[in-house]
Amino acid sequence: MNQFQCQAEIVRMEHLTSDIVRMTLQAPDIAACAIPGQFIMVKAGEGCDPLLRRPFSIHQVIGNGRVQILFKVLGKGTRLLAGMRAGMALNLVGPLGRGFSLESREGFCLVGGGMGIAPLYFLARELQRLSRPPQLVVLLGARTAAELAQLAEDFRELGVRELHLATDDGSLGHHGYVAELIPRQLGRGGDDWQLCACGPHPMLQAVAKEAKSLSCPCQVSLETMMACGISACLGCAIPRAGLSGAYLHVCKDGPVFDAKEVAWL
Ligand SMILES: Cc1cc2nc3c(=O)[nH]c(=O)nc-3n(C[C@H](O)[C@H](O)[C@H](O)COP(=O)(O)OP(=O)(O)OC[C@H]3O[C@@H](n4cnc5c(N)ncnc54)[C@H](O)[C@@H]3O)c2cc1C
Ligand code: FES
Repeated sequence: MNQFQCQAEIVRMEHLTSDIVRMTLQAPDIAACAIPGQFIMVKAGEGCDPLLRRPFSIHQVIGNGRVQILFKVLGKGTRLLAGMRAGMALNLVGPLGRGFSLESREGFCLVGGGMGIAPLYFLARELQRLSRPPQLVVLLGARTAAELAQLAEDFRELGVRELHLATDDGSLGHHGYVAELIPRQLGRGGDDWQLCACGPHPMLQAVAKEAKSLSCPCQVSLETMMACGISACLGCAIPRAGLSGAYLHVCKDGPVFDAKEVAWL
């Protein structure tokens, strides 16, 4: 698998809300071989603080060798990144990890929660580019309409017709959790469908449960704290299903897993 370390120029900064940012980076080597679900490790500052790179899903690969990340400001690293301007440069490593399988299916149902929506945009676009595009249903959830509106619009512009939204506060779409929308979509008969989900752990757990009850194959993209991103520190271990004492490493074995591989605690 090709991986690169590069100094990437920031081409564009878009502040979608007060704390959600989309950053476009000039990274031709990474753009040339990235697949949906993979991530990059980003050095957020020039010196030793913060010391560790931060992982971000690849949100989109666009023409001219550019990659985008979409992130929410949480702590020091993301605050530093949000304060950067076009023309500045960042050190990146990627593309890393195992992405989504696009194996042929009648339909794909993508389920994204919060910043877990980031890799699903890249996935939706690649599915639509297949020589025989599958049916596509996209279910997106967030806390409020403000967090979701622009991202939903991006999926509509991509041509996704079956787009359903949920917000925790009911300000847009279904009032509740996004996983609650799955039975309505796949309950109508989805034997040859594939669920692909990314979001907070409880959401993924709920999606895996729905997938099991509908007998629908399900891929989940997991997040853990990551110190290295390259399988050197073993800090991203999660328990593996079925084998007591066995672990998976999110940076190397994932971040995308078959939901059946994961021990949902
Ligand atoms: C494979 C992968 C892909 C990711 N993709 C995205 C993405 O596309 N967009 C996005 O916004 N974020 C994404 N994340 C999470 C992102 O890496 C963290 O939000 C970021 O590292 C926080 O850095 P910070 O320095 O701002 O916060 P820190 O100061 O390091 O931490 C601030 C707070 O956030 C918590 N935190 C830090 N990292 C995580 C994490 N991975 N999961 C849950 N809580 C965390 C800490 O416990 C702490 O409470 C991804 C993580 C992984 C592992
Ligand atoms: S983050 Fe270091 S081994 Fe996975």
